[in-house]
Amino acid sequence: MNNSAVKFTLRDYKPDDFHALYEIDQACYEPGIAYSKRDMRAYLQFPGAECILAGTSLEIAGFCISARQRTRGYIVTIDVLEKYRKSGIGSALLREVERRLAANGVREVGLETATDNESAIAFWTKHGYRTLGVEKGYYPGGRDAFAMTKILVALARASKEGR
Ligand SMILES: CC(C)(COP(=O)(O)OP(=O)(O)OC[C@H]1O[C@@H](n2cnc3c(N)ncnc32)[C@H](O)[C@@H]1OP(=O)(O)O)[C@@H](O)C(=O)NCCC(=O)NCCS
Repeated sequence: MNNSAVKFTLRDYKPDDFHALYEIDQACYEPGIAYSKRDMRAYLQFPGAECILAGTSLEIAGFCISARQRTRGYIVTIDVLEKYRKSGIGSALLREVERRLAANGVREVGLETATDNESAIAFWTKHGYRTLGVEKGYYPGGRDAFAMTKILVALARASKEGR
């Protein structure tokens, strides 16, 4: 079902949002894969880390954390609460993250996603990410991950030219 009636806006993370983001991550991933508070704090402090939130009038519906070093970007996580999925929130978050990465000189973005996470794989594929290979036992508990990547060159050029 497409949930396109959900209204949301994007904004930057503020330290007061930490607890809500932690709860969303716990709801989005099973134990062992969901981040501990310590992990989440560390990711928010990664080099070039940025966190963008999507909020409805009621609550935070989702967020994305990215990081970057020189020309390489990384999607740490993207989480949308189940009741708000399929309404374009994940896509809006990712587009804004990619736009900011490109504007900061990132040319290639990487990420890992569990090989059995079909909705995420469909999401990444729709957004132009391709699979580089399998990282065996990447997740705690031994689940495998696909390493995925996308070249942002065209986006970077468009951002530089003010389009
Ligand atoms: C992956 C995730 C972020 C997508 O967020 P979302 O807000 O539902 O995504 P969108 O509504 O923008 O979907 C965009 C496209 O992704 C694909 N997609 C998203 N969810 C899908 C699903 N359940 N099944 C198949 N395709 C799906 C579709 O191509 C969709 O386009 P469409 O609506 O035109 O069919 C969300 O499902 C989520 O938070 N999952 C749990 C956490 C997670 O697994 N994160 C990624 C791990 S790396």
